[in-house]
Amino acid sequence: MSDATSEWVRKPSAAGEGTACTLEEYEAMYARSLDDSDGFWAEQAERIDWIEKPSNIADWSYDPVDIKWFADGKLNICHNAVDRHVEAGHGNRTALIFEPDDPDGATRHITYAELRREVSRMANTLLKMGVAKGDRVTIYMPMVPEGAYAMLACARIGAIHSVIFGGFSPDAIAGRVEDCKSDWIVTADEGLRGSKTIPLKANVDAALEKVPAKAVLVLRHTGGNVAMKDGRDHWYHELSADVPDECPCEPMGAEDPLFILYTSGSTGKPKGVLHTTGGYAVWTETTFRYVFDYREGEIYWCTADIGWVTGHSYIVYGPLLNGATALMFEGVPNYPDHDRFWAVCDKHKVNIFYTAPTAIRALMREGDAHVTKHDLSSIRLLGSVGEPINPEAWRWYHDTVGKGSVPIIDTWWQTETGGTMITTLPGAHDMKPGSAGKPFFGICPQLVDNDGGVLEGAASGNLCITRSWPGQARTVYGDHERFVQTYFSTYKGKYFTGDGCRRDEDGYYWITGRVDDVINVSGHRMGTAEVESALVLHEKVSEAAVVGYPHDIKGQGIYCYVTLKVGEEPSDDLAAELRAWVRKEIGPIATPDHLHFTPALPKTRSGKIMRRILRKIAENDYGALGDTSTLADPSVVDALIEGRQNR
Ligand code: WT7
Repeated sequence: MSDATSEWVRKPSAAGEGTACTLEEYEAMYARSLDDSDGFWAEQAERIDWIEKPSNIADWSYDPVDIKWFADGKLNICHNAVDRHVEAGHGNRTALIFEPDDPDGATRHITYAELRREVSRMANTLLKMGVAKGDRVTIYMPMVPEGAYAMLACARIGAIHSVIFGGFSPDAIAGRVEDCKSDWIVTADEGLRGSKTIPLKANVDAALEKVPAKAVLVLRHTGGNVAMKDGRDHWYHELSADVPDECPCEPMGAEDPLFILYTSGSTGKPKGVLHTTGGYAVWTETTFRYVFDYREGEIYWCTADIGWVTGHSYIVYGPLLNGATALMFEGVPNYPDHDRFWAVCDKHKVNIFYTAPTAIRALMREGDAHVTKHDLSSIRLLGSVGEPINPEAWRWYHDTVGKGSVPIIDTWWQTETGGTMITTLPGAHDMKPGSAGKPFFGICPQLVDNDGGVLEGAASGNLCITRSWPGQARTVYGDHERFVQTYFSTYKGKYFTGDGCRRDEDGYYWITGRVDDVINVSGHRMGTAEVESALVLHEKVSEAAVVGYPHDIKGQGIYCYVTLKVGEEPSDDLAAELRAWVRKEIGPIATPDHLHFTPALPKTRSGKIMRRILRKIAENDYGALGDTSTLADPSVVDALIEGRQNR
């Protein structure tokens, strides 16, 4: 990868001065965020309306693990994201712009005043249904404003939302509903993506055959035919018909839970990562403000789905806490054609555009004409998130989309970090294609070797964070021990990210990808163990081992080694069946890219599968298989290589 720095150009904007800082300001603020952490964060927290102002700022320990921020403060994050702006006289400002899947469909502009009414109406409807403070509400919605209303409505009444991405299967929904004992579901009849309908309500119905729920609130979106179960299912438009559009905000303790978001790890079922109210509010407000250099009146578009943390922090909470105008897009980048992103940027005069490298690579492949036929002169900042961006994609993003003059921010963070941790800041830092850049305020990255030895200066190692920050996840819902084990036990006293990373001589961080058994498929995290469990549930499968391998568009693809039960024969039909099976068990994002039937897996004499070897073979990299002498049966490797080459 090239280390060449690019000249940073901070684009002027008609909307006036932004919130970005110069390099000197960044350095002074960064130093203060560490030397006087309490003073720094108390000051950032002043942009939040507190019902009771916190006096206790940072209060955390990584051993034992107990994380609190602003603990004695009281606030409501929905008030801060919505009502506060109306009360400040900005009720007529657009909060959300909705761009539907169908380019000829109706665009919607929702002002902050309307947002307050809509969120209040949704909140009152949830209350009418029986939802109480502290209850978990599952939200399984398409990318429509009502999805954001549902999240904010929960926050308004103190319920804990658990949003599930609309691409997950009934089984995945059931597992999550059961894990957090969520009695309440908010969904829609159907979702729309690239003219295809997603049977959201039918998926919920299938999930609720396995786990109970008290009530399901259903938004009529496509008008498609769905079954409604008497006494359990309610149409939103019916149940909300007579509720008031005013609803008070519940005062919440800063450490009261705000949401649970399930994410894949290297072992077991997905974990319910828990975020709390005060720290998350301050963190998403502050990161959005500085990272995107947002200027009043600008149109900001993050292409993520609200089902992922990027949607939580940078479609809903971060932008709205800043009183920004955020675009919500229901569709996909390639419908009706490969120019949709750029058509939408042109149509709505988007100023800040934030997407994932996988989308950039997919669109790059379709050629420049899709980009150049649109007027993208409104764009003044481009962002990337979700996986390392390869320099080729970076260049195209910069030169073709950004016409060589728009800066790119590459934001590294995770579900568990709540918001951006490492990025260059507009105006402060030079960019290096492929490097996320520098730590955000309050963030102390550290690289350690496999034995936990701290690496100084230019080095490569495992990325840890040594100090807590306000937006850090507090626990795994219902299983604090798992939280401690997963993140704080590999390197005691430090938060371990699971990522490998290089720090160069300028102190820039280059994320090299996961070092655990998690793969990153199109910017989505997938636990290889989850795919394996799904495969072995199939009656013909005896054993499965799943690894990631480089994939041109997705970043990583899913490579599955499968051994069949005695008497079963490998075939193309069975491969297709297993692919469909995993899709059904987890969801389309988990669809295997490669199925490799093998009579045996490489194991040590103690029976441990040697994944290192499987990864190398999947990568077609046979020269570096390493030591295979500890294998119980080294000939397995030759058979695997042969199988790989015959594909
Ligand atoms: C993992 C977190 C960040 C929200 C979306 C994904 C990878 C994320 C970058 C980046 C290199 C990145 C890491 C991380 N990742 N952003 N800019 N450069 N890698 O959230 O599902 O929790 O996944 O995504 O491997 O650990 P997530």
